[in-house]
Amino acid sequence: MPNLSNKPLADGKILQDVVDGVGVVTFNNPDKHNAMSLEMWEGFGEALAALRDDDTVRVVILRGAGGKAFVSGADISQFEKVRHNAAASEEYARRSAAQRALLADYPKPTIACIDGYCLGGGMQVAMLADIRLASHGSQFGIPAARLGIAYGYDGLRHLVSLVGPAWARLLMYTGMRIDSAEALRIGLVERLLPDAELWDATMEIARTISGNAPLAIKAAKITIAQVLKDPADRDMAAIKQVGIECMDSADFREGRSAFMEKREPQFKGR
Ligand code: COA
Repeated sequence: MPNLSNKPLADGKILQDVVDGVGVVTFNNPDKHNAMSLEMWEGFGEALAALRDDDTVRVVILRGAGGKAFVSGADISQFEKVRHNAAASEEYARRSAAQRALLADYPKPTIACIDGYCLGGGMQVAMLADIRLASHGSQFGIPAARLGIAYGYDGLRHLVSLVGPAWARLLMYTGMRIDSAEALRIGLVERLLPDAELWDATMEIARTISGNAPLAIKAAKITIAQVLKDPADRDMAAIKQVGIECMDSADFREGRSAFMEKREPQFKGR
């Protein structure tokens, strides 16, 4: 892991930084395997918003501190106070879901860099990212049935779209943890790396994305999100609009010139 000059949020339990034009959000509560308190959810939202609004940032990586966990889920020690019944749970879900909604609608590409436990609410975060890269030693699971928690529509929608309904049922009914090889096989993660190579490999992919044409990436991101919706809910006008923006852009001219002149393109995002 690099030595980053972080901006601390949520009492230092969420760190926000920019490295080489890449935004990084770190879940930093290693004593609890980065379990997420409500304050951390809110700090997470603040970091996402700040990196979204920073024009120098073209891609955002999410990761956990400590080398043991990405996020081990919501902080169960808070449940007695803030999530003990349906009414409290609704308020809790509202406050944490508002932060995850920022990630669901994020305008820039996002990568979950998973090194260790990725459980419960951690899976929710990882599944909302565009891409999941994980170390060999990582473990995945949603132990909602072991706690008596209903995991909710958004989390299960993403789970089903990644692994299909049968694996979603197996994971949810048993609460089992699976290892990284199985997670790769069922489509929960896109690539596995040796533990020591995970961060560099993640940064390399982030830098590649950063160097590509932002509008072309935006077009892909918007269009893929629409493909995942029910046909009746698809915003085809948004796809058309971003297509026009892209094909009329200075970056498209730059891409063509750079190819013909056999040089690297310099994209500006317009
Ligand atoms: N919420 C609150 N505290 C958590 C936590 C969570 N989700 N996950 C881990 N912790 C705490 C543990 O209570 C422990 O605290 P302590 O040192 O004060 O006892 C500390 O983190 C280390 O965890 P520990 O269980 O001792 O480590 P382990 O390596 O034996 O097991 C896990 C790691 C992640 C498998 C295990 O902690 C676990 O099952 N956590 C809960 C996961 C979960 O149910 N998440 C879904 C929540 S919706």
